[in-house]
Amino acid sequence: MPTAKKLTKKSHLKVVSPALAASIGTARARPSDRYQVLFEQASDAILTVNADGMIDAVNQAAEDLTGFVREELLKQSIEILIPDPAAHRIPDRARPISLDCFQVSGTFEDIAILRKDGYVRLVELSVRLVEASGKGLAIVLLRDVSEKKRMERELITKHAELRNAYFQLEKKNAELQSMQETLVQAGKMAALGELAAGIAHELNQPLQGIRGYAQELQAILPPSKNTGNAEVQSFLGEITSNVDKMASIIDYLRTFVRKSTEDFEWVDVHGAIDEALKMLARQFQVRGIKVERHYSGHLPKIYANPLQLEQVFINLATNARDAIEASGRGWGKITIGTKVLPNGFVEVDFHDDGVGMNEKTKAKAFNPFFTTKEVGKGMGLGLSLSYGMISKLHGSIVVESEVGKGATFLVRLPKDFRELA
Ligand SMILES: Nc1ncnc2c1ncn2[C@@H]1O[C@H](COP(=O)(O)OP(=O)(O)O)[C@@H](O)[C@H]1O
Ligand SMILES: [Mg+2]
Repeated sequence: MPTAKKLTKKSHLKVVSPALAASIGTARARPSDRYQVLFEQASDAILTVNADGMIDAVNQAAEDLTGFVREELLKQSIEILIPDPAAHRIPDRARPISLDCFQVSGTFEDIAILRKDGYVRLVELSVRLVEASGKGLAIVLLRDVSEKKRMERELITKHAELRNAYFQLEKKNAELQSMQETLVQAGKMAALGELAAGIAHELNQPLQGIRGYAQELQAILPPSKNTGNAEVQSFLGEITSNVDKMASIIDYLRTFVRKSTEDFEWVDVHGAIDEALKMLARQFQVRGIKVERHYSGHLPKIYANPLQLEQVFINLATNARDAIEASGRGWGKITIGTKVLPNGFVEVDFHDDGVGMNEKTKAKAFNPFFTTKEVGKGMGLGLSLSYGMISKLHGSIVVESEVGKGATFLVRLPKDFRELA
């Protein structure tokens, strides 16, 4: 086969399939050049290795892949391409190229070869054993997969990043939802504030009227010569003092909605709790309610309105009292703990062993005017007002409770809300 012989001479390639030669066609000019071009321009690195493991022919891509020039490879042992695991970094799943690779035809993945510059490349190795001029010859195809592997790794990293981003998104979404709930609650509080201010304004006028008439009556009644007048006088006194009580409640509502900071000062939280408990001490005593305090020894003062803070604890203590009374046992215990949280907030843990709350009550407990108590006993404002006051201090109040297991209110307050505003 003359065409094959010519090609052999030029490229050291000793074998060409007759079918290939035929398909290219000998009619057109200089088929040997064609094979040369085919061999040279192939995008995969090709080299031939003889039975002694000597490199016999290389193409351009093989030069590019190995970093050696043709002269450095020809008549060299294939060992020139074997990396030394002790000296070169061979990726985990890869194995170094070896003489064994050329004993059988086949394809091997993740084969590490050593470049001239000392870097290891990962290749897919295809070996085809043929016979040429009575001698065994291996046609070797090397396909660089380092880039592919790198991209695979990158894909895995990117996938992990994407997963991570997805989880972050889920978390942010949950935060957003809870913020939305807080906003709804804050909206309710604002509405309550306006309502309270409106009621306070509207009620004050007629109340002062009632007070005025009562005092007028007291004045025009002749001095009490008989018991009847004395009784009327005392009733009128009751009217005046009850009106005063109502006026002070209205006043309290007004201070609550007023956005002033002038009454703020550094407050001892334990002092505020103790004041609140003192006011209820007698009521606790007659109901067999004991109070246990677990105060932190290092609680910092917080910047707040002391009266409002005290009011929060009065509200909590009153509710605890009612819950214990509702249990019908005739005794109970309120446990109050304080501590400093890692973020510097002060936490008050207000626990009672009363009747507790079901899910529905728990969900609505902070709503304005929500009460489960009989008419005249509960206004349903204690917790919503407390919530409002605590929110103004950039704090939080949450409840944990189950029916029959009492209730725990956790109040968390920053040391100085102005730093967070
Ligand atoms: N410590 C508690 N134990 C059980 N239920 C409670 C407790 N604190 C509050 N609640 C429930 O939350 C509701 C709302 O409380 P609150 O706003 O103080 O209004 P009120 O005490 O006037 O009913 C109460 O009616 C009660 O059902
Ligand atoms: Mg209450």
